[in-house]
Amino acid sequence: MCGIIAAASTRNVGKILVQGLHKMEYRGYDSAGIALHQENQIAHLRTLGKVSLLEEKMILEKPKSKLGIAHTRWATHGEPSEENAHPHKSNERVYIVHNGIIENYLSLKNFLAKEGYSFTSETDSELIAHLLDYFLTTNNSMLDAMYLMIEKLEGAYAIAAIDRNDKSNIVIARNKSPLLIGLGEDELLAASDPLAIGQLTNQFIFLEDGDVANISANSYQIYDSLKNQIKREISEIDISSEASSKGEYKHFMEKEIFEQPVAVLNTIDGRVGGDDVLENIFGIGSSDVFSKVKRIQIVACGTSLHAARVAANWFSAISELPTQTDYASEYRYRNPHVDEDTLFVTISQSGETADTLAALKYAKEKDFLSTLTICNVPTSTIARESEFSIFTNAGPEIGVASTKAFTTQLVALMLLALSLAKSRSRNPKLRGRVITALRQLPDIVSETLKLKDSIVKIAPEIASKDNALFLGRGIFYPIAKEGALKLKEISYIHAEAYPAGELKHGPLALIDEDMPVIALCPESEIAEKLVSNLEEVKARGGTLYVFSDPSISLELKSGKLINMPKCDFLLTPIIYTIPLQLLSYEVAMIRKTDIDQPRNLAKSVTVE
Ligand code: M6R
Repeated sequence: MCGIIAAASTRNVGKILVQGLHKMEYRGYDSAGIALHQENQIAHLRTLGKVSLLEEKMILEKPKSKLGIAHTRWATHGEPSEENAHPHKSNERVYIVHNGIIENYLSLKNFLAKEGYSFTSETDSELIAHLLDYFLTTNNSMLDAMYLMIEKLEGAYAIAAIDRNDKSNIVIARNKSPLLIGLGEDELLAASDPLAIGQLTNQFIFLEDGDVANISANSYQIYDSLKNQIKREISEIDISSEASSKGEYKHFMEKEIFEQPVAVLNTIDGRVGGDDVLENIFGIGSSDVFSKVKRIQIVACGTSLHAARVAANWFSAISELPTQTDYASEYRYRNPHVDEDTLFVTISQSGETADTLAALKYAKEKDFLSTLTICNVPTSTIARESEFSIFTNAGPEIGVASTKAFTTQLVALMLLALSLAKSRSRNPKLRGRVITALRQLPDIVSETLKLKDSIVKIAPEIASKDNALFLGRGIFYPIAKEGALKLKEISYIHAEAYPAGELKHGPLALIDEDMPVIALCPESEIAEKLVSNLEEVKARGGTLYVFSDPSISLELKSGKLINMPKCDFLLTPIIYTIPLQLLSYEVAMIRKTDIDQPRNLAKSVTVE
């Protein structure tokens, strides 16, 4: 999604800003732009497409400046184009960058048109520049104009604005869209993503909704929604360059798949002791609250929702609790009934997903026992808005397709299932068994990654097809869904997932030699039934690719049977995810797609 970076410095900032845009490329974008203050004028450059094109323009024009703003845009209002790219300007005086969506943009546009402003883009963001210009004509400072302007806005925004008549200050504002200040040496920075400025500082201030701030090279002032000057906490976070570089790998996605043994270890580390989970690992007082929980409600989106659907099985089997899972984008609109003592859980890699955040805010107004998040970004809005939390400690995930975030979410959800069971005095023996299995998990993940060579061999057969079907039963159905999501998002092959028992109720009609069927077949009490479902596919000429436990007997005429490493049944969903990630990656490699930034997608979806 869109990315903002701004810098006020004692040195030239053009390079810093473009490097920051590069760091945010993983979020997904379609155009980029920059505005640099140069004494009495502003250099304004925009390009459709990659940041490297903007960089080329900069090399040609060589603008020098100590104050500027820059942006990567992911289209919401208006197609991807140079005209719609940010920064937007008004009267050659005010230049702004904006993330978010202005919901009342039509009425504001009409108002501005009547005041004589004309629009050069189809975006909602351009009106922000004009409104600031409008208020600047009757007010002296950008800060005053910003307050008058945001009073008129409905929706979500992170904004950075500069004024041609002021070469020292950048004014920024935040509401429901992330924005932070970075404290550098002889320079102040602002960004929507700490990765953008992580090379320049390890000191960050995360703004809150309603905050407005003024930054210059040597000072900053933050004001709350009532315009009172306030202090916000400074967080020290080291964002190593190693974490945001591909190293020896061709893509971030590949790197992140192979980081999973360490990532999983980091999720478990410090959270288990002896043969049980430690107390209060979700925050002080969490164990006590957990003893009262009677029901769980989880909301999440995409991959994170698949993790929720696996975990619902664990909450039932280990914690003996019923669980409901919902798409975050749907939850609020179904008039949910909230039972007494229900724990509201969100799952989000980024912690900034607008649908999940909106559902959390809605839940906080309802009668839930408490709110808890499973998140990879401790400084994110969802983490800060939740009463309890556990961080997956997976390290930055840059590839748009979630890989290590998913497996570590599953591990964190297992820790939640165990903690709830412990607080509710349920299943001590089973808890001990799972703890032993968790300790072995990083090694089994490493073992599973060795399947890469077998997967490379089958990838061409799937890469040449237009469709694919994924099958799994029970706790493996959400894993089949995750496999289908991975394949479609990075290889653009249409893929669907079904619980294998459903095949004969309709989808069997799709089976022919052009429909590869990828099936997950672990050892389980319904393994025999699943094998029968696969026989139905075989009998109709379907090509099967089966990831299975070595004990399962199935003979294939075409396709491939790949044996999976042994693992405790409760943790097998984590292991069976890995070959599906590898398969999608290898298929996408053959189809030469933009693996880390697939078309039309964004890493962090900050609009509803
Ligand atoms: O950051 P979140 O976990 O809240 O993101 C939710 C989804 O947008 C995300 O999981 C998406 O489905 C993945 N990129 C798919 O690989």
